[in-house]
Amino acid sequence: MSTAHAAASPDSDAVQELESQFDATIARDQRIEPRDWMPEGYRKTLVRQIAQHAHSEIIGMQPEGEWITRAPSLRRKSILFAKVQDEAGHGLYLYSAAETLGIDRAELTQRLLEGRQKYSSIFNYPTPSFADVGVIGWFVDGAAICNQVPLCRSSYGPYARAMVRICKEESFHQRQGYELLLTMMRGTREQREMVQDAVDRWWWASLMMFGPPDDDSPNSAQSMAWKIKRHSNDELRQRFVDMTVPQAAKLGVTLPDPELRWNEERGHHDYGTPDYSELKRVISGDGPCNAERMERRRAAHEEGAWVREAASAHAAKQAARARAEAAA
Ligand SMILES: [Fe+2]
Ligand SMILES: [Fe+2]
Repeated sequence: MSTAHAAASPDSDAVQELESQFDATIARDQRIEPRDWMPEGYRKTLVRQIAQHAHSEIIGMQPEGEWITRAPSLRRKSILFAKVQDEAGHGLYLYSAAETLGIDRAELTQRLLEGRQKYSSIFNYPTPSFADVGVIGWFVDGAAICNQVPLCRSSYGPYARAMVRICKEESFHQRQGYELLLTMMRGTREQREMVQDAVDRWWWASLMMFGPPDDDSPNSAQSMAWKIKRHSNDELRQRFVDMTVPQAAKLGVTLPDPELRWNEERGHHDYGTPDYSELKRVISGDGPCNAERMERRRAAHEEGAWVREAASAHAAKQAARARAEAAA
């Protein structure tokens, strides 16, 4: 806390008191709720993180959504449908969590469309084969679980609570992906090759979902001090690698990293360094599908304008009716 206000005015005394209450709540591992005072930096960090998370859920519907009409069986189609629909739901819970911080969904969507807010780099990669649906479930939803399970204990109440249900659903997503791959691996040689090809294309991009390495992640320390984030990028990445290696062995695929091996001393797997310059390129807009994803998102937003207008007109009518009834 700042000691710069030597001649403290009553106002700054009040702010100091609020700050120390906030710090004490965080130190006791209790939750910050929307009614509580919070530092502006904490609020801004949460808005940025929750919005980025919400945008990722919504844009993340696209790469797999492309396969709904082409799923190979009714069973796969209904699973994929349910999964993609879950992601829409995740986006909605998260926009609602962000709204408790005093910013509405329309504004956040506007920021995304104007390129002022980001979404996860992983959704800028293409899905040329049906095996991609399986590998996204296994890797991408698996990485999401590693990232999000600790967020169930995040210091901001509405975010932490949204995350509980999201994580349960992500775990179904991961399993459906892995089960799809197990089925394909029991199929023809071509099917096994499709799985291996998809694994080769998604592995490094999935490792990069955890963000830049710790020594190049300037905002992480503050997020951890505020207990928004509970583990560093590299810790979570390690957790994902350790979880995935035995699953790959059981599936019968090779993870495309010659440096990958068990390190007895560390009790973890060693692994190679992802190409973080690619991550920077994709985040700054220059990935294989960035333009396509944003164009689709923009079109969906414009095509949905009539739904938003109809919903507001309906809400206004309901409110007018309620007022008239109250006055009668
Ligand atoms: Fe999700
Ligand atoms: Fe998911």
